Amino acid sequence: MEKRVFSGIQPTGSPHLGNYLGAFRNWVALQEDYDAFYCIVDLHTLTLPWDPAALERRSIEGAAALFAAGIDPAGTVVFRQSHVAQHAELAWILTCVARMGELRRMIQFKEKSRGGDAESIGAGLFAYPVLQAADVLLYQAHGVPVGEDQRQHIELMRDLAIRFNSQFGDTFVVPEAYIPKEGARIMALDDPADKMSKSSKRPNSVVNLTDEPELVAKKIKSAVTDSGRDVIAGGDKPALTNLLMIFSLFDGSTVPELEERFAGSGYGDFKTALAETVIEGLRPIRERYLELMGDPAELNRLLAEGAAKAAAVAEGTIASVWERVGLGPRPGPQ
Ligand code: TYM
Repeated sequence: MEKRVFSGIQPTGSPHLGNYLGAFRNWVALQEDYDAFYCIVDLHTLTLPWDPAALERRSIEGAAALFAAGIDPAGTVVFRQSHVAQHAELAWILTCVARMGELRRMIQFKEKSRGGDAESIGAGLFAYPVLQAADVLLYQAHGVPVGEDQRQHIELMRDLAIRFNSQFGDTFVVPEAYIPKEGARIMALDDPADKMSKSSKRPNSVVNLTDEPELVAKKIKSAVTDSGRDVIAGGDKPALTNLLMIFSLFDGSTVPELEERFAGSGYGDFKTALAETVIEGLRPIRERYLELMGDPAELNRLLAEGAAKAAAVAEGTIASVWERVGLGPRPGPQ
């Protein structure tokens, strides 16, 4: 069997440079050699307060961003999580295999629930990594290409797969995280201690894939830099390290090559060149995105096609899960 990869993105806001450099870029590369499934995880978006009027549009935008970045709908399965009911079904069964203690240890849960009243945090936010485990395990995926922030969630899905297999018999492939060596953690432009994030309330912290060139230039010019004047990376230069990494990933030069190129230049010249590089790198993606968004019916058609292919695989897995846990054979169509 061809090896399989699975990954997902939340339609919570606009996809940004972090999503592209940490995830999509790899998704595109991996579709060549793997049987690839990429999912718009709209059920995950319901774990924090959301806008029902925007959810469907954002899901379609997420699919358009993936295709614009180079995902090929002819060979790769792209679909919305809510369109394949087996995700929610398996999530429930795995919720009964997961333990409170292991979910309580999830860093993302701790971060996202911080500052709120502990008693009123949604239970969905707590159970979120179990749904994520169901996403991957349903497809018997070997690899999960993600950014660094998802490492712990992949560890948990491995633990759940191993526990289920040993309790009920071999059922799931135990997946591995595929985290890129470079670009796995792109930081906010206005605060290099903070991850670039869709949920940020600070518009200058994030470059969205669909930002207009003028806006990209403005955001990069206002990016914070470190003390000193030299364009160099290093432990005491978190802002420049981040900007040089972004430059390197778009331009193909290594960070030392860029340091040499900008030796003696000020931050101003460096940022101007970085802005041009990012704008040129994003231009084809943005153009293709706008073109695709001009035909939402076609995007919906591709998503429906993807959901049908995904459901066929997912049903095979859930049918054996049902048998193994004692629910018996799956009833036919009702
Ligand atoms: P999400 O939607 O937050 O992010 C999608 C992907 O982008 C990566 N990423 C980053 N990479 C580098 N630098 C950043 N600043 C940055 N921000 C985000 C993420 O690591 C991710 O790979 N829980 C997941 C979605 C999910 C999923 C899954 C992923 C649901 N089910 C199953 C893999 C497999 C999430 O919220 O990703």
